[in-house]
Amino acid sequence: MKFQLTINGQQHEVESGPEQPLLWVLRDALGLVGTRLGCGVGQCGACTVTVDGAARRACQTPVSAIGQAAIETIESSADAIAQALQAAWVKHNVPQCGYCQSGQLMSARALLRQNPKPAPAEINHGMAGNICRCGTYPRIRAAIMDAAKQLANAHQ
Ligand code: FES
Ligand code: FES
Repeated sequence: MKFQLTINGQQHEVESGPEQPLLWVLRDALGLVGTRLGCGVGQCGACTVTVDGAARRACQTPVSAIGQAAIETIESSADAIAQALQAAWVKHNVPQCGYCQSGQLMSARALLRQNPKPAPAEINHGMAGNICRCGTYPRIRAAIMDAAKQLANAHQ
């Protein structure tokens, strides 16, 4: 079957079985390999993308479930939130091995879109589905707080 997908603001036509997880369409059909396979069963968050702004596990999302929704992956850093997070990740030296980090950043993007000034407990809650084997959680939290502050300052 053919599917029309909007990914990072661009239209793509892909040929795929309807049950194929979005993760493999992104990685294998479109070469967007920043979205990672971790567990493959919805438990780790490594494959997180956003669908209409909300965090979604690409390994658990059949391509046929997307419809007209806008998909965003780590390859896009077009908006202010994405850029502020990227800068804060660098400033706080967040990644260790890096494997989980694209999923972490996509969940953080969805979190800040929904809640521009999250309290530490809200960050913990919003990021709870993203596992980091290297234990970078304190730096992730600090970077999200910092990005939220920078974004708030920019809007004053
Ligand atoms: S790879 Fe999708 S949640 Fe782990
Ligand atoms: S930085 Fe290594 S798994 Fe998160």
